[in-house]
Amino acid sequence: MPNIWSIGGGKGGSGKSFITGNLGILLAKGGYKTLLVDLDLGAANLHTIIGLPLPEKSISDFLNKKVGTLQETVEPTPVPNLYLISGAMNDLDIANLAHEQKLKIIRNIPKLPYDYILLDLGAGTSFNTIDFFMISALGIFVTTPEPTSIENIYRLIRSVYFRKIRQVLSSHNFRTLAEEAQERDARATVSNPDILLYIMKELDPEKGEILENELRTFNFKLALNQLRKQDNPNIGALICKIIQRHLALKMHFLGNISFDERVHNAVCKKIPFLDLYPYTQTTLDLRTCHKNLLTIDEAEPILQNVVD
Ligand SMILES: Nc1ncnc2c1ncn2[C@@H]1O[C@H](COP(=O)(O)OP(=O)(O)OP(=O)(O)O)[C@@H](O)[C@H]1O
Ligand SMILES: [Mg+2]
Repeated sequence: MPNIWSIGGGKGGSGKSFITGNLGILLAKGGYKTLLVDLDLGAANLHTIIGLPLPEKSISDFLNKKVGTLQETVEPTPVPNLYLISGAMNDLDIANLAHEQKLKIIRNIPKLPYDYILLDLGAGTSFNTIDFFMISALGIFVTTPEPTSIENIYRLIRSVYFRKIRQVLSSHNFRTLAEEAQERDARATVSNPDILLYIMKELDPEKGEILENELRTFNFKLALNQLRKQDNPNIGALICKIIQRHLALKMHFLGNISFDERVHNAVCKKIPFLDLYPYTQTTLDLRTCHKNLLTIDEAEPILQNVVD
């Protein structure tokens, strides 16, 4: 069973693809068979970050039944152990993806034979983006230090969290219990998860615990990208602390990634940043995030959401 990490961010341009590509390269160089999946349908550009020309195959070949399996859309990359499913050359946009096509992607990704699968997601909190995010309980959220980006990240985390509560509540018996909780206290709604959980646990400790445990399967990380010298380096850890306090989930800080103007140059030259500029603070930061990702994985058993 692969470790599947969804990489998301509320705001466009925060660096999701940059981080997905470079973390993928580090995982592959560390000996893990790693697959990157570009799910930013309509704006896919992950291939450029890892230095690939426009791939010939794409996820739409699978959706349009040009090939029979998702595995057949996998492209090798110049990095040994690193593979890509591209979302480029795609006539599909995430906004007009048919429900069946979405389910086909969601069901088939976890079956792919890799150690790590990183999903590069589009910006925003659209219904389809949240569905893709929830292919896995493991998520990396990418934000910049700008307040607008942080606000959007919080919105995305809440959307994923609330969707999970709705999923659990939509099973018949839970719905009744949630209604009872609301009768007892009108504030016990999905948008007030603390109160809802508290009252549900009082009404039915067993079911309340099931809901809480479901929420605690989320294993989220935060990467703070494009940190400049004048920015507060503690802000990422603080965001994690605040989110952990308000929501019943794991939220660890992966690390700061420094802003470096040469990222632009690497993207233009189509050479992965950490290969073109190996001795920079930003590469060091990416390595630290990679190390933290692996250490936390080893420290805790990973529970995954599997959609069947
Ligand atoms: N640490 C960094 N320092 C400097 N520039 C960066 C850094 N990270 C990313 N960038 C630049 O920011 C821009 C956006 O990066 P990227 O494409 O990875 O963001 P994204 O979150 O995937 O955006 P989108 O939502 O549009 O897919 C790119 O031009 C990239 O070169
Ligand atoms: Mg992107």
